[in-house]
Amino acid sequence: MDKPVFVMDHPLIQHKLTFLRDKNTGSKEFRALVSEIAMLMCYEATRNLPLEEATIETPICAAKTKVIAGRKLAFVPILRAGLGMVDGVLEMVPAAKVGHIGLYRDHKTLQPVEYYSKLPLDINERDVIVLDPMLATGGSAVDAISIIKRSSPKSIKFMCIIAAPEGLEALTKAHPDVQVYCAAVDDHLNEFGYIVPGLGDAGDRIFGTL
Ligand code: PRP
Ligand code: URA
Repeated sequence: MDKPVFVMDHPLIQHKLTFLRDKNTGSKEFRALVSEIAMLMCYEATRNLPLEEATIETPICAAKTKVIAGRKLAFVPILRAGLGMVDGVLEMVPAAKVGHIGLYRDHKTLQPVEYYSKLPLDINERDVIVLDPMLATGGSAVDAISIIKRSSPKSIKFMCIIAAPEGLEALTKAHPDVQVYCAAVDDHLNEFGYIVPGLGDAGDRIFGTL
């Protein structure tokens, strides 16, 4: 495995992240930015997909070239905010299947509460990338991955946009086998469990429920 946490500091991602954090960015632009960042992150998160040789005919001659080997991917967004990342990653891997895990954080206890789970039937034959823009205490990601592991996927990666150090510690401790990708590691969590400086409540900003 690569390093357990991979921070994607690509200039395009960092530029878009600045506008995502800005409190003056409205829902329409926020949704577009989440999707674009997810698409760019997917490029890196799929870097180790194995290739196999293929022979095709160009207009000039026969050529030996490469295609992705018959490996199957599934994306699993954590509802609600993870939904904002789905369109972007499907632009990159349109043949992937999509499962859903519904979790919300209880505002008082900050503990995740599960309310929905629907995964592809053949998930045991698939590599899974879990999607959620925010990793705060890590409770939601840890539980979502535990739920997915019960279906024995081939591998699991976790892709978030902003991570708190507290969440990274909890996630890498609970699931050391899961490679984590993020665009930024922020400073800390505040007393309400929000990431500082963060971007506020990702689900509310995506769906306009502020
Ligand atoms: C947010 C976010 C994560 C979770 C992160 O979801 O999208 O799922 O909080 O926090 P944690 O790391 O402390 O668990 P939220 O519970 O606000 O639900 P929503 O997406 O439906 O708004
Ligand atoms: N969930 C969010 O949407 N934002 C945070 O800062 C923490 C949890």
